[in-house]
Amino acid sequence: MGKALVVYGSTTGNTETVAQVVAKTLEGEGMEVVLKDVAGVKPGGLADGYDLVLFGCSTWGDDEIELQEDFIPLYDGLDAAGLSGKKVAVFGCGDSSYTHFCGAVDAIMEKASELGAKVVDLPLKIDGTPDEAEARTWAKNVL
Ligand SMILES: Cc1cc2nc3c(=O)[nH]c(=O)nc-3n(C[C@H](O)[C@H](O)[C@H](O)COP(=O)(O)O)c2cc1C
Repeated sequence: MGKALVVYGSTTGNTETVAQVVAKTLEGEGMEVVLKDVAGVKPGGLADGYDLVLFGCSTWGDDEIELQEDFIPLYDGLDAAGLSGKKVAVFGCGDSSYTHFCGAVDAIMEKASELGAKVVDLPLKIDGTPDEAEARTWAKNVL
């Protein structure tokens, strides 16, 4: 079924939990999966060799959208990641009491799209505590 890369940025561990559930679900569906904390990745050629790339990022800031801090270098360098023509899906945790609920998810989808990725029009935006069942269902739908 191919190879998937799951890259996540998470400050308090919520998006990390979702990333782990997503990775396990894809494995259960027969994919070979590599799970990476964004703090340890470099943008250059990141997507090379993968059939599917999933980005997970929480949202910070108040009036403005701020990406989870470890994710910012990847976002800024995303043009070097080799996303053109790749299937990409985006997920993240947030809090709907903020103006830009999961705004980081929207920002990453938009940029990946601009770079020619085939962005799955099905973002996963989790409000509050991660819902593992929701994450499992989403990962299956992405496939
Ligand atoms: C100072 C602060 C600002 C935040 N800003 C937003 C926001 O603009 N939009 C949003 O959806 N969530 C916002 N959140 C909620 C976090 O994204 C949420 O707690 C999330 O679960 C954190 O995920 P993480 O543990 O993966 O980093 C904010 C939280 C804090 C503490």
